[in-house]
Amino acid sequence: MSRTILITGASTGIGAETARHLAEGNTLILHHNQSPIEPVAEDVQTRGGTVHTCQADLAGEVGCHLLMQAVNRVTEHLDVLINNAGSLLQRHTVEEVTWDLMERIFILNTYSAMLLTKLCVPLLRKGNDPSIVNMTSIAMRHGAPTATVYGAAKGAMDSFTRGSARELAPDIRVNAVAPGVILTPFHDRYSTEEKLASIASDTPVGFNGQSIHIAQAVELLIENTFITGETIDVNGGLFMR
Ligand SMILES: NC(=O)c1ccc[n+]([C@@H]2O[C@H](COP(=O)([O-])OP(=O)(O)OC[C@H]3O[C@@H](n4cnc5c(N)ncnc54)[C@H](OP(=O)(O)O)[C@@H]3O)[C@@H](O)[C@H]2O)c1
Repeated sequence: MSRTILITGASTGIGAETARHLAEGNTLILHHNQSPIEPVAEDVQTRGGTVHTCQADLAGEVGCHLLMQAVNRVTEHLDVLINNAGSLLQRHTVEEVTWDLMERIFILNTYSAMLLTKLCVPLLRKGNDPSIVNMTSIAMRHGAPTATVYGAAKGAMDSFTRGSARELAPDIRVNAVAPGVILTPFHDRYSTEEKLASIASDTPVGFNGQSIHIAQAVELLIENTFITGETIDVNGGLFMR
């Protein structure tokens, strides 16, 4: 079945790999902000996908509406929304966090995904077995020092996933993936080699994840029509429920 899929933050890391993984036979609308999207778009086309691209800064309401305007220009329906764009923005302890940083973390990781969900519902209602996949984080699970507000923002998305799954049922399924440590540009900015090595040795499978591990979980949530309101932890056993 050919699907029309919107992926936010598709320019690098998890979003880019998810785009490549889902490319074959599908129409992908790839969102980016500051990073170039052309290399990912070319990969998707090489793998047999059709591509549209759109740029928007999702650190505010205006950017969400601009993205939706671009989406509405290229499609009349959506089968899948992947709310992937997000960032830690900066390491912060509870004692040093500021109102401004809390706002910026929640706007990017939570408010924009919630607003995009709302804005995409009319297009998803016209889709085939439509679903939404939200990208949360292991940071919401077991406490993540220097990422506490970020973890709380992802925890809010986890709750939003279940609430919207109930509200939008039976028309639209809503699920989430909570990645563990996945080697992407995210960690070039926020982690050190030593820290990553230490986490890998604490991880039961013995290594940090790659973006493909997340892309495979996203694909499962899109494909399996009996899963809604679920968050899949993909973390090599670093957090176990
Ligand atoms: N890597 C991990 O270990 C890990 C673990 C748990 C959760 N996550 C979550 O997984 C998602 C993807 O992360 P990643 O590891 O793939 O990180 P990444 O490589 O840094 O990618 C982040 C993506 O988000 C986009 N983005 C960031 N700020 C934006 C803004 N203001 N407006 C619009 N788009 C923006 C980026 O777009 P541009 O580059 O084009 O600006 C990029 O495409 C994020 O939600 C992250 O919180 C990652």
